[in-house]
Amino acid sequence: MTIKTIGIVGSGQMGNGIAHVSALAGYNVKLFDISKIQLDKALATIAGNMTRQVSSDKISEQDREAALEKLSVTDSYEELATADLIIESATEKEEVKREIFEHLRPYISEDTILASNTSSIPITRLASNTDRPEQFIGIHFMNPVPVMELVEIVRGIATDDKTFNLAQEFVDTLGKQTAVAEDFPAFIVNRILLPMINEAIYTLYEGVGTVESIDKAMKLGANHPMGPLQLADFIGLDTCLSIMQVLHDGLADPKYRPCPLLVKYKEAGWLGRKTKRGFYDYRGETPVPTR
Ligand code: CAA
Repeated sequence: MTIKTIGIVGSGQMGNGIAHVSALAGYNVKLFDISKIQLDKALATIAGNMTRQVSSDKISEQDREAALEKLSVTDSYEELATADLIIESATEKEEVKREIFEHLRPYISEDTILASNTSSIPITRLASNTDRPEQFIGIHFMNPVPVMELVEIVRGIATDDKTFNLAQEFVDTLGKQTAVAEDFPAFIVNRILLPMINEAIYTLYEGVGTVESIDKAMKLGANHPMGPLQLADFIGLDTCLSIMQVLHDGLADPKYRPCPLLVKYKEAGWLGRKTKRGFYDYRGETPVPTR
């Protein structure tokens, strides 16, 4: 089997990024969302991000045009189901992800491979609710997808070798590196990264440092490209909280307790960059700390 068409469910920042790199690698891409407005926004974002890459000579104008031609959007599960590999990249809610695979079930062919870009939900559990746990795998991209080199590949207990090899080949053709992770809560990157971010939020909550001093400390003191609170806003505070909850529930260790301040920001709807407010306020020219 060769993969020619990639279906992507969810046109948020991760779905956009996966569509972007897949189209640039020459795949036909069908980007699905239930919201047509969201799909229009996604197309504009992808075109804009490709323009950035043209401006910095990462790709040519011809590459950009060819990739945009490979990209189509749809709000029909039936149309999406013609893809060879379907990557679910919807919100980090297990119920939502399960429903998506339920909707796809009547339309997919027996060869279709299903994947999830989940950042923390067990692949084995998601797979067990589909009709094809053998052809189900975790393909976890990092944000921003066009820039980050790594993709985690996560096998569920039932994932067969053919599916694993196809997933690995797919990532190779995107020009990215893979790290294979066992299917335990939050896999490798988020198992390590999110407790660090959560600890930065505790550091703020306990008054050890301000937003600015915590970010400055980690940028200049540990050579991180972004401070941990800046990074939390970039990932999305709802996603950060749900990953901490998966770690806390899945490993039953109090060291993963989500910081109450993270919960408060989530409850306020201050989810970071995407809602223009989180640990920073992004509504003006330059981001201003919110505490
Ligand atoms: N599409 C295309 N290009 C993009 C882009 C996008 N979405 N975002 C940034 N870029 C490009 C810029 O155009 C720029 O290109 P040039 O160097 O060629 O000019 C380059 O990336 C660097 O961007 P900037 O100059 O704007 O800013 P920066 O130097 O501060 O880098 C960053 C931005 C790459 C995001 C960097 O700050 C960084 O690496 N941050 C950490 C990101 C990170 O840790 N990601 C992982 C999050 S965890 C995750 O994703 C897993 C999960 O499940 C939660």
